[in-house]
Amino acid sequence: MVETRRDVSPQLSKSRPNLYQRIRGSLGKGKFGSRVEELEAVSEATVELAAQALDARDLAIASHCGRVAELASLLAQQFDLSRRDVELIRMAGKLHDLGMIGVRDDILNKPGPLSEDEWEIMRRHPDIGADMIRWHPDLAAVTPLVRHHHERWDGSGYPAGLRGDVIPVGARILAVAESFDTITNERIYRAKTLSSVDAIRDISEHVGSWYDRAVVDTLRALYR
Ligand SMILES: [Fe+2]
Repeated sequence: MVETRRDVSPQLSKSRPNLYQRIRGSLGKGKFGSRVEELEAVSEATVELAAQALDARDLAIASHCGRVAELASLLAQQFDLSRRDVELIRMAGKLHDLGMIGVRDDILNKPGPLSEDEWEIMRRHPDIGADMIRWHPDLAAVTPLVRHHHERWDGSGYPAGLRGDVIPVGARILAVAESFDTITNERIYRAKTLSSVDAIRDISEHVGSWYDRAVVDTLRALYR
């Protein structure tokens, strides 16, 4: 069953580039040159469409993604990043768990801890989500952030085991924002929630192993 789901991405990979390349080609020829601003608006509409698809699948995850987007955007604004990069990070926050659409209900809604086999399936969600958006002309730049939001500073994360500043800065920001939101909000697998202060203390214990120190310091400064 899981293998069937994983087969979806290659199909998308084959069919979507043709469509998008045709649109790009038309823009390049100037046929729709006056519509560039309109295209930018399309990217926001696309993000919203994806967010609504996730909302229909699982309301809790969609709400989580909305909050992570706002926190990640706040964190990103404290770094020396362009407005475009901050916006990409916000968009990635909205889409980071989009791949949960491809995770079975019995795993997604399991109230207790996951088995190792179930974890293996759960760990595919960054790749599933990234593969869903990778060929979209407006979302291609968001794709690495979605794919790597569960990497850890020491290389023990997934899916690629990237380490340190090889991990895109937006993904490092998302990792902290996601953990903070997960710890401070009730989830089906986590009955206990922590206050912001306790969550920051919890996250701080993993600086240098899971998280980028600069991002955690920025989170601490935001809540000071
Ligand atoms: Fe995730």
